[in-house]
Amino acid sequence: MLKDKKIVLGITGSIAAYKAVDIASRLTRAGAKVEVVMTESATRFITPLTLRSITMRPVVTGMWETSSEFSIEHISLAEAADAVVIAPATANIIAHLACGMADDILTCTVLATRAPVIIAPAMNDNMFTNPVTQENIEKLKASGFVFVDPGAGRLACGRAGVGRLADIETIIGTLRQVLGRDGDLAGRNIVVTAGGTREPIDPVRYIGNRSSGKMGYALASAARDRGAEVKLITTITCMPETVGIDVVAVDTADDMNNAVKTAVKEADALVMAAAVVDYKPQATAKSKIKKDSDALSIGMVKTPDILAGIQGDFVKVGFAAESENLVANAKKKLKAKGLDLIVANDITDKSCGFGADSNKVTIIDKSGRVEDLPLMSKQEVAEKILGRVAELLISER
Ligand code: CTP
Repeated sequence: MLKDKKIVLGITGSIAAYKAVDIASRLTRAGAKVEVVMTESATRFITPLTLRSITMRPVVTGMWETSSEFSIEHISLAEAADAVVIAPATANIIAHLACGMADDILTCTVLATRAPVIIAPAMNDNMFTNPVTQENIEKLKASGFVFVDPGAGRLACGRAGVGRLADIETIIGTLRQVLGRDGDLAGRNIVVTAGGTREPIDPVRYIGNRSSGKMGYALASAARDRGAEVKLITTITCMPETVGIDVVAVDTADDMNNAVKTAVKEADALVMAAAVVDYKPQATAKSKIKKDSDALSIGMVKTPDILAGIQGDFVKVGFAAESENLVANAKKKLKAKGLDLIVANDITDKSCGFGADSNKVTIIDKSGRVEDLPLMSKQEVAEKILGRVAELLISER
């Protein structure tokens, strides 16, 4: 989603300026064209050369530089930008913007742009919580500026408090959310499930599977990036970035079933990427099972088939993890579970599937159309699947 997007990255004079190098690097690696604008004080903390080397583009540090003979730098940057991100943003730039003061290249660019502006403050905790700064922030929020709140922790001044630049993942997640807010899933509610369920044997052990949750998280963020309201029902909760995603933590198949049933009441689509354990122990031992005997048998009963049991007027997408007869087995599941789409993958292929960052899938729809996709990152696979969901929502509903 960041590919070919023109992002103006404004850097101001905070000790956190070094973190902007990582932001520039990640955006550049994601395919964005990053135009760095540094205030004079930012250049005291890091050099323009560092940013130029990372972005492979000129870095603007003053009002009177022009990239071409006839363009005025801040106006051309402001007009070309898909979004402006100021990270880190000092109390000073926030105050200048709140007063509409255009007194350097960055404030001029921000005031001249019609693109969304995201501000990630970083400063001393007293400066951040000062009513003047808070008033300025509220004023800018009311004008449509998007803030990424700073975190709490040890600050450069040695104190502990709120003022640390937000996580880079959160800043980039906010940028993606903002860029996608008018996407083809805007106004839609999408429910995604992720991770493998865990069925307790006793207070310590459980029956589970190797699902990492990566595919479900990729789907949730891809839906968010197209403007959807996303609910992610997941057994894995340690993923780095869930900006704008409503995360519901569950453990067992029964928990997931209940959470899905509640969530789909408002849903336009359900994408079941979770690996639901099919059989659970008949009973859970109250205390830890001791290894007194040489063998142990555990009676097992079936868990609910969440996807098969859920009905309603929403697009239903399932996954099929297969080790043989991929397309034939997936088609059977599509029909048996009443799905609109099924995403089949061959779990014997080591380059994809459980734990991997890539996946090779075949998407089959209820008309029988079979789309074989090449090996891709899970993020790219998620984008393809959400593209198909968006098509179905436009054509059918
Ligand atoms: N699924 C579900 N509830 C279950 C089992 C699976 O909702 N108890 C969903 C999965 O999330 C997936 C689809 O059904 O979207 C297919 O899951 P898969 O594990 O491939 O198949 P199963 O239905 O479990 O059948 P089998 O294990 O026999 O292949």
